Amino acid sequence: MTRGIRRIAINTGGGDAPGLNAVIRGVVLSALRRGWQVLGIHRGYEGLLDTSKIIPLTRESVRGITHLGGTILGTTNKGNPFELPYRNADGSMVVVDRSDEVVSNFHKLNIDALIAIGGDGSLSIAHRFHQKGMPVVGVPKTIDNDLAGTVITFGFDTAVGIATDALDRLHSTAEAHDRVFVVEVMGRYAGWIALNAGVSASTDVILIPEIPFDLEVVCDKVMEREGEGRRFSIVVVAEGARPAGGEMMTRGPKEAGREVRLGGIAEWVAQQIEERTGKETRAVVLGHLQRGGRPTTFDRLLALRFGAAAVRLVAAGQTGVMVALDPPEVRAVPLSEAIGRSRTVPLDCDTIHTARELGISFGDGSAD
Ligand code: F6P
Repeated sequence: MTRGIRRIAINTGGGDAPGLNAVIRGVVLSALRRGWQVLGIHRGYEGLLDTSKIIPLTRESVRGITHLGGTILGTTNKGNPFELPYRNADGSMVVVDRSDEVVSNFHKLNIDALIAIGGDGSLSIAHRFHQKGMPVVGVPKTIDNDLAGTVITFGFDTAVGIATDALDRLHSTAEAHDRVFVVEVMGRYAGWIALNAGVSASTDVILIPEIPFDLEVVCDKVMEREGEGRRFSIVVVAEGARPAGGEMMTRGPKEAGREVRLGGIAEWVAQQIEERTGKETRAVVLGHLQRGGRPTTFDRLLALRFGAAAVRLVAAGQTGVMVALDPPEVRAVPLSEAIGRSRTVPLDCDTIHTARELGISFGDGSAD
């Protein structure tokens, strides 16, 4: 037993990402080897409000899960215990803070540390709980790869692979019909998926949140190709991309305690291209396909390493931190440094330069 640790807990919060189960396995096996008990908390923090939903995680619980998508613990992106929506008897909605109940249950259950796997939202909640006296180690997760403090998050490589495969497949049908395809991928504030998949799949235009675009420039690219006898084009657009002077496209009103839903940009760009160029243009939205299914080898390995590293940090008494990849090492960064700021695509990064040198347009007129 290390430094008196007897029991830890683990939860998964926010949108799922391929590799969550591999982290859980990494944590559970490393902790059991140290003689600790591990409790699995259901659906983010919900299991610490209703403790009947807590399950002991054993060797048996994590057998054969490394390659599985989703999370055996369940997750939610609506469950911030500091701001839970609650419906009064008269039907009106209020927001309640139940964080003290979470902390109290955590101590009643004699949990020594929580390993919280999540993106910016879940890790910000984890940080607040750490400040309220719950020792926490965070594990960064998001397919968008937009978390500060780590070079990469698990789930991203899988999502890029899925998007690249989809773009490859659309090439042949686009060419067969002389069509333009506009493909919407995830990427709320950062265009990493669109950029990496777009370059890898040789798309003609990549639209990302970091570079507001001009539709005329996008259409010029389509028509330039037409002039070269290439009568089809592929545009990949991150869901958070927007035209210069315009706004991100959202769906429905923002709900309390969660981020506004994005969507619709591909449909809009496709309509605009069709109207302006006269070319038949179709929109395809990849959506949650990018989050489902088996993690790649890269994501599995990173996830297992993150899980084992998180347990090592708990053993060393280092909490209030997040594990991070700083190749070739996994190291700890303070949670306070990782949360609240997105790691967006730097406009002068090598992949952007490469894309421009290959003739890919970002719809901004610069070096297109
Ligand atoms: O994990 C981040 C993300 O994939 C975003 O790119 C996207 O906007 C969001 O999750 C979608 O979440 P939900 O599952 O709530 O639709």
